[in-house]
Amino acid sequence: MNILFIGDIFGKAGRKIVADHVADLARARAADLVIANCENAAAGFGVTPRLVEEFLALGIDVLTSGNHIWDRKEIIEYFPKEPRLLRPANYPGGPGRGGYVGRPRSGVEYGVLNLQGRVFMANTDCPFRTADRELETLPASCKIRFVDMHAEATSEKQAMGWYLDGRATAVVGTHTHVPTADERILPKGTAYITDVGMTGPYDSVIGVTKETILSRFLTQMPAHFDAAEGDVWLAAVLVQADPETGQALGIERIRLRGD
Ligand SMILES: [Fe+2]
Repeated sequence: MNILFIGDIFGKAGRKIVADHVADLARARAADLVIANCENAAAGFGVTPRLVEEFLALGIDVLTSGNHIWDRKEIIEYFPKEPRLLRPANYPGGPGRGGYVGRPRSGVEYGVLNLQGRVFMANTDCPFRTADRELETLPASCKIRFVDMHAEATSEKQAMGWYLDGRATAVVGTHTHVPTADERILPKGTAYITDVGMTGPYDSVIGVTKETILSRFLTQMPAHFDAAEGDVWLAAVLVQADPETGQALGIERIRLRGD
């Protein structure tokens, strides 16, 4: 079973490269399941119901998110209507869920779990204990278990990889928007990468226009963050897994340049 995971889709530029390439990429890589992190899809901040529907219509099966998920007020009411949109499971309250169980085109049952780190981030519930609880609720028949660990600190993401080794098919990191080159299969069969990287404009500082961020660093004054547009890349990983055991067989980084 091949699982394609697309890293943080940022703003209009990120949405366009996904719209242009996701179907071809999924076909070329024989992806049975496509997951994407969409928390920065709406101009860098959150996601709207309309954008969620556009992503699902492109063939993305499940959407994960993170700390920006509550940025657009309209998403709060939308959550009960769309179980394929996840927010981190360890938020102490709020609508929506952090886990989803489905069956893709190939018919293999799968679970997706979205977690958020606590180091240099909001004070959510413990992501490790939440992972224990959420994995426990998955049916035993569900062997494919994919985890998006949305976190700032590389240490916290690595720790989650080790914590879930042998219990998840893959633990992939998101949020920092910079792809890391440490993809590997951990000893008990979990595919791991610290950060998949941003799908969006790299002529930027993690997606935002360079000028805005530089002025912020130089003056420490508040500034309106505008999404950048240039040098657009799609960042993803392809995880190959054994549907019988749920163990990962491979993980490959994919980087694709926009037109
Ligand atoms: Fe984030």
